[in-house]
Formats: sequence, structure tokens, C-alpha cells
Amino acid sequence: MRISTRSQVDPFIVMDVMQAASAAEAAGRHIIHMEVGQPGTGAPSGATAALARAMDQGALGYTVALGLPALRARIAQMYGEWYNVDLDPNRVVITSGSSGGFILAFTALFDTGDKVGIGAPGYPSYRQILKALALDPVDLPTSPDNRYQPVPDDFAGMDLKGLLVASPANPTGTMLDRPAMKALIDATQGQSASFISDEIYHGIEYEKKAVTALEITDDAYVINSFSKYFSMTGWRVGWMVVPEDHVRVVERIAQNMFICAPHASQVAALAAMDCEDELQANMDVYRANRTMMIDGLREAGFSSFAPPDGAFYVYADVSGITDDSRRLARDILDKAGVAVTPGLDFDPIRGHQTLRFSYARGTADIAEGIARLKAYMAAR
Ligand SMILES: Cc1ncc(COP(=O)(O)O)c(C=O)c1O
Repeated sequence: MRISTRSQVDPFIVMDVMQAASAAEAAGRHIIHMEVGQPGTGAPSGATAALARAMDQGALGYTVALGLPALRARIAQMYGEWYNVDLDPNRVVITSGSSGGFILAFTALFDTGDKVGIGAPGYPSYRQILKALALDPVDLPTSPDNRYQPVPDDFAGMDLKGLLVASPANPTGTMLDRPAMKALIDATQGQSASFISDEIYHGIEYEKKAVTALEITDDAYVINSFSKYFSMTGWRVGWMVVPEDHVRVVERIAQNMFICAPHASQVAALAAMDCEDELQANMDVYRANRTMMIDGLREAGFSSFAPPDGAFYVYADVSGITDDSRRLARDILDKAGVAVTPGLDFDPIRGHQTLRFSYARGTADIAEGIARLKAYMAAR
């Protein structure tokens, strides 16, 4: 049977690393996981307790396509609490993770062949989802001087139909401050292109609060998720905030593509939003890990990186060591028993000379990982 052209997306290299790490574990080795981009913690206990109650009480059938009204209202309330933004709950759409949000957003905003700008390095699935929807992802190589975030000059005169940014970003953890975000929004709107802000790492910030695009404009799509700050990756629930006149458009697509996000996960997500103590305890761990990681990587000899403002990654330039990050990652796994991600997932060109280190796991693991990386580098 014929396979479509649009289905020719690239694999996620980090999955190959995870595969190699689990093969090493199956062979009896102890591996420290610095490759995975997910919290080591589960959903907050208040979330699982709320779900247990809901399971006793009802069938948890479909919800309406836009999601449980109480969850949409609670998310709107959070925009008031976190950013002082007054948000109409009717503009909130509950999605199957932010991944489901991208599919809805790209379908609602773009036509076949439209060019959409994405920063490189960036989250790999942006490019692949765009390709699978017959859209044209345009990599915008970002500069370390701009802390690996795009600036308006990077896409001047490019005829983009959309720009997608992430702040804090994966793989770098860097953020756009308010003037930088505003400059991008102004430049995008000036080209009559759509602005999409991936805010999945909001809440995981270290020195200052991340800026939401909604502080600057209502004319943007904001995509977020319960996967990271709320520690609920496997529950596949997230949300999107869209302009008022796009709600019905997105609703019709969501009805047909997904029917709804998982009901059980929506119930748990609503309760998770009131588990601040537990979520802040997770933040204490990330904060300790971040300090340990910044110091430890520098001491090990991986010193070329922008300290992360948020998320739980360090993206290091290893051009002084290799021009084959995949081979370096493999060697680190084999010799040091530490799984790290080659930058190629995030930047198909410059990623040959970068590695991403995740510090989402427990602090003891990070300490052990750093010790092993130091020993590995000393022996090179
Ligand atoms: C920047 C970014 N956006 C989106 C996602 C997808 O997350 P989810 O679909 O679990 O919400 C990830 C996952 O790691 C990510 O790093």
C-alpha cells in the first residue's frame, strides 16, 4: 500500500537514546537518566484522590469538545492569579496535551503549504507535526547572543504565515522577556502572520515569572499543558487560549478530531490546580538540581551554555569536543552510564555540536550523574 508523502517525518532521536539506555539497564547496568524531558514525580496526590472519587460517582463519558466548564473556568482564574490577566473562560479550550493543541492550532490557522517559522534549536515535534499536516516549517537559526530565541530580524521579509515560539524553551530553558515577546508579536502581526506561544514550561521558572503572550495581545494562540509544572505527562491533558472569534472554529475541529480530551484527566487536572504545596515542593527539587547542574557541568568541562531561566534543561555547545553529538552521547552512555540527548533532535544542523542535559529527576540522581560526567571528561 502507498505511504503518503506527509507521513515522512523524522524519528525522535531522544527515543533512540532511551532505547539504548533501557537496553543497557536490561543488561544489568545502572543508568542515570538525563535524557528524558519529564518530571520524575507523578500527578499531585490531590489530583489522583479527586479522580478516585469521580470514578466512584460516575461513568466519565465524553465531555463537551471544549472541555469541562469548571476546568476552563479554573484555568481562566489562574491567568488572573499568575499574570494579572483577565481572561474569559470561553476562550480556553482543553486539549489532549499541548501536542493535541498544536494539531488544533495548526489546522485552524494554516492552509497546505503555508510557511511557519520555528526557532532552531527548538522542540522537534513542531517541525514534524507541521510536516505531517502538509505545512512548511521554516527553521530560524537563533543566536547564542539572543539566548537562542528568535528576534524579528530572523524572519524579516520571509512571507511566514505563522511564528511559533516557546518561553521557557526546550532545549535551552531560556525565556523571552516582555519587550522581546512584544517585538516578536508586533513583527508577526506586521506581516499578517499568526503568533503561537508555547507556554508549556510556565510555572517552572527560577528567577522571574515567565511572560504570557496574553499580557501583550489577545490576538494570539497560547498553548499550555498539565505535563510539566503540574507533573502529569501521561495524562495527556493541556489547554489552549484562542481569540474569541476562533473558539467556534477550534471547537468544530476538536469535535471531529478528538471528541474531547480524556475526561478522567480533566477531573484530575482540575484538582491538580489546587495542589500548590506539592507542586512547589517539586520546584524546590528543580531549583536545587539547576544549581548543581550549572556548577557541575562547568566543572566537568561542559561550560558553553546559557543558564536556563526556566524548564529543566541545559543545552551545551560541545563544539570544542566533537562534531558528532550522537557519537558523543553514545560514548557517554557506554562509558559513564549517563543518558543525554544529542542536539540533532532540536537543531538538524548545529545540533551536531550540542547536547541537552535534563535535570527533571531527583537530586541524588543529578549528583551521581554529575560525578560520572566529571570522571568521564577527566578520562578523555
Ligand atoms: C516545548 C514543548 N512543547 C510541547 C511538548 C509536548 O508536551 P505535551 O504534549 O505532553 O503537553 C513538550 C514535551 O516535552 C515540549 O518540550
